[in-house]
Amino acid sequence: MDKIIVHGGRPLSGFVKISGSKNSALPILAATLLTRDQCIIHSVPDLSDIHYMLQILSHLGAQVERASGTVTIQAENVATVAPYEIVRKMRASVCVLGPLLGRHKEARVSLPGGCVIGDRPIDLHLKGFRALNAACRVEAGDVRVFADELRGSTVDLEGRQGPTVLGTGNVLMAATLAEGITVIEGAAAEPEVVDLANFLTKMGAKIEGAGTRRITVEGVKELHGAEHCVIPDRIEAGTFLVAAALAGTVVTLRRVCADHLKAVTNTLSDAGYKMDITRDTITLHGNGSPRPVHIVTEPYPGFPTDMQAQMCALLSRAPGESTVTETVFPQRFMHVSELKRMGADIALEGATARINGVPHLSGAPVMASDLRASAALVLAGLVAEATTEVNRVYHIDRGYESIDEKLAGLGAEIQRVKQGN
Ligand code: EPZ
Repeated sequence: MDKIIVHGGRPLSGFVKISGSKNSALPILAATLLTRDQCIIHSVPDLSDIHYMLQILSHLGAQVERASGTVTIQAENVATVAPYEIVRKMRASVCVLGPLLGRHKEARVSLPGGCVIGDRPIDLHLKGFRALNAACRVEAGDVRVFADELRGSTVDLEGRQGPTVLGTGNVLMAATLAEGITVIEGAAAEPEVVDLANFLTKMGAKIEGAGTRRITVEGVKELHGAEHCVIPDRIEAGTFLVAAALAGTVVTLRRVCADHLKAVTNTLSDAGYKMDITRDTITLHGNGSPRPVHIVTEPYPGFPTDMQAQMCALLSRAPGESTVTETVFPQRFMHVSELKRMGADIALEGATARINGVPHLSGAPVMASDLRASAALVLAGLVAEATTEVNRVYHIDRGYESIDEKLAGLGAEIQRVKQGN
């Protein structure tokens, strides 16, 4: 398993180009199963999660070709069973259920396991499929969904922890080929759901309200091929903004959608950072330690849970007391114990991290656990004294395209050490 070694203290400056969004590309790639025609998707990031999704699509029988950031897919004749040995590697595989149900009226996918950020149920996905007249069965670790015909109806997908992003996408995809009108109440409003809806509309779907909590779909007989460019990754962008805040002099992010990052840029502004923001660039002026702030993660447009770990790393340096409360994945604090090994002063009280800023972090060997926690540890290493060694960086490779090379391009002293498995 590879590790990343960061020598702290190097100032960051310059430009970094943000890649296409992982969380937008995954459901959009799954949506190509809805048509037998060819689809062309641009700005697909080179990530292991994307690789797994393309493996699943190929296994299902789709023709898949990748040329740098462009993926060409044709799902002329596809099977309807996604096997455990591939699905177990990535829980987002669950988003092939909706398109297979829509296209073939049946699908069988192994149940996604939990993960370190908490239990990852799909009860709301199944609630949506049942509302479309599908039956759902759990059999031998798989979930099987099937219907004689899909009929539109109204369904509320809001759960105890708020809306479901992939659940909204799954039900939306199935509803495009259901008979009649489907209304999804309590829908997720994330930009990634809007990007998926835009792609489905290019395929001939009839969708209104994407980006609001109420999405209306008028089913059509079939969908055709389409070409689409995936939106920039707002979480990668936020991660680099925190890197600039921690270690920057002046860092400019290119190919961002600044509109998607308002909760993050507003929080960084509250923490005392000056930013020059245009439609597709953000320049942050790093100026030493942040002011303490209080963050509560919420569904979009609130502060994103996927930026929570990175902010804990930044606020570890904020003189005074900050708090970070996690409402989406209340257990998502695997990074805290590792940051404390680097000298951070953080106390966990239920789903709230109480952070007292310290003047210095010290480099240490640390263990990556989930995608965003791993990124947070690399960020902390940028300003920690001496050397930080982040192990198990396969977690990072799931969601960040060449993060070590991009940080090195900004002046960080960082290298990836390949290790036998
Ligand atoms: C998506 O996961 C993202 N992943 C996650 O990003 C992100 O953290 C999450 O949305 C929230 O924004 C992808 O898009 C591939 P949810 P998703 O369904 O859709 C509960 C990353 O770092 N829930 O919106 O799986 C659930 O337990 C990843 O890139 C149910 O109760 O998340 C959670 O508490 C991590 N029943 C809350 O809803 C369900 O059927 C939100 O989950 C589904 C979800």
